[in-house]
Amino acid sequence: MRFHKKQAFDPGAPRRYNTDSKGGIAVKYTKLGATDLTVSRICMGCMGFGDAKRGQHTWTVDEETTRAIVRRGLELGINFFDTAIAYQSGTSEQYLGRALRDFARREDVVVATKFLPRTNEEIADGVSGQEHIRRMIDRSLANLGMDYVDLYIYHMWDWQTPLEDIMEGLNEVVKAGKARYIGISNCFAWQLCRANDIADREGFAKFVSVQGHYNLIFREEEREMAPFCRLEHIAMTPYSALAGGRLAKHPGETSKRLREDSYARFKYDGTAEADAPIIARTAEIADRRGVSMTEVALAWLLGRVTAPIVGATKVSHVEGAAKAADLVLTAEETAWLDEPYVPHPLEGVMAQNTPDAARAAHVWSTGSQTI
Ligand SMILES: NC(=O)c1ccc[n+]([C@@H]2O[C@H](COP(=O)([O-])OP(=O)(O)OC[C@H]3O[C@@H](n4cnc5c(N)ncnc54)[C@H](OP(=O)(O)O)[C@@H]3O)[C@@H](O)[C@H]2O)c1
Repeated sequence: MRFHKKQAFDPGAPRRYNTDSKGGIAVKYTKLGATDLTVSRICMGCMGFGDAKRGQHTWTVDEETTRAIVRRGLELGINFFDTAIAYQSGTSEQYLGRALRDFARREDVVVATKFLPRTNEEIADGVSGQEHIRRMIDRSLANLGMDYVDLYIYHMWDWQTPLEDIMEGLNEVVKAGKARYIGISNCFAWQLCRANDIADREGFAKFVSVQGHYNLIFREEEREMAPFCRLEHIAMTPYSALAGGRLAKHPGETSKRLREDSYARFKYDGTAEADAPIIARTAEIADRRGVSMTEVALAWLLGRVTAPIVGATKVSHVEGAAKAADLVLTAEETAWLDEPYVPHPLEGVMAQNTPDAARAAHVWSTGSQTI
């Protein structure tokens, strides 16, 4: 049977989850917000997978390494995977899709991918928001070798396309069976609220999850997004849960990514001094408890969100992440980690979430693949 042949989804069908995985590590599961999707509490972030010559990042890992990481994640019980059309010209989607086809059953995994805003060329050519989304999902499904994704995510706010068109386009994707649910990333709480109000009014699919930038050293989501998600039962699946590795490495430790990931440096270098005490406290608790910094940083986040999205460039990284679900921080440890934080300016994609920035050149694109 070909993996990507559409299989009718039966929510009552038994699912294969690892409860007693190799190495004694057992990932825990939860529902994704108000949906019937059962997801591992750790989501595998796939931005670090893909052809390093074909995209924004020079530090991504090749297909063989990707396969080993995905395989180990599945063995450990991780069933939730996050990729995007923007990652290395679609090669992240391609590597992930092929690995899942070989190592998992489609109905046992929850696959999320994301689409980008309309390009200036599409706008000039009169391509509507609805048509744009149709092209994007079809390209992603071809990259993944799948007939549907479980979660289709609006990657970043598209100031140049009417929100009604986006919501209608997404609703068509769901109606066509190409996505089971929709989620959103990199938005303000008011934007999510407005979008779901339109969906409510029109009877469209609503956003069930939000993928924002949230970790121990970047906590701006706590102002408005976290209370709003609690109120609406929307799942929080934050990205850069380890601050691109900064919360996983003892001061002084380095890596190819830490040296070459200029986008992450742009996100964190400006506040490095304010963040250093938090990173030091993470390391101190890890040493005291005899666990990794990854476990401490993720345990902190697991107390607040549905499923953090964690990137990995080595098999050992996944093991560290999977173990985090077993670590429970004490109230004193949590308070001690919380205490040094000071409000941070918005950086990265959220700093560009303005009408003016929308017209400027963006670091994100579909790369060398044509849509
Ligand atoms: N929606 C969005 O706009 C958006 C933006 C960014 C990311 N994301 C998603 O979120 C995922 C995670 O984001 P991210 O990669 O920026 O951040 P992350 O999870 O904060 O950091 C991942 C990095 O941490 C290091 N690491 C992980 N486990 C480790 C361990 N046990 N010991 C030491 N180092 C470890 C690795 O870096 P080294 O290679 O340096 O060792 C790895 O690449 C992405 O893959 C993507 O799916 C989404």
